[in-house]
Amino acid sequence: MRRSFLSYLPSTLVIDIPEIDAQHAHLFEQLDEFKTSCIDHNAYQADEAEALFATLAAHCRTEERLAGEAGLDFRRHGEKHRVMLRGIRKMLDDMEKPGADVFSLIRYVDYWFERHIQEEDRNLGINLKQLAFAEVGEQFADEFLGQRTSG
Ligand SMILES: [Fe+2]
Repeated sequence: MRRSFLSYLPSTLVIDIPEIDAQHAHLFEQLDEFKTSCIDHNAYQADEAEALFATLAAHCRTEERLAGEAGLDFRRHGEKHRVMLRGIRKMLDDMEKPGADVFSLIRYVDYWFERHIQEEDRNLGINLKQLAFAEVGEQFADEFLGQRTSG
């Protein structure tokens, strides 16, 4: 039976930004399916690895877009994304070499996802929520003051 994709995201890694949480859950699900597929075939599954890499790159662009729309400085976080994508790209390319270990790749990606969410994305979530809350508060204040001056 197929699990709900959100169940792939441990509650400790939920950052309360639905678009990001859904993508994180999907990344963990895709990584899990990639691992299962490699075990089932007893071989590295290049197409699935490339699909996972494309999902990850798209996810990094989502975070960058959300931060940009909110006016946040994303330079440091964006650099962490570029370092991660370069590292995973190199590991994928190295999978063509003899003796390559797909399970080292899976452990690396899994570890990186989790650490990155805790160290970077959690703060991004806090900053996005604070800005959204401030914006709602400002709108409320404007409406309230508008009512007072017109009434
Ligand atoms: Fe991130």
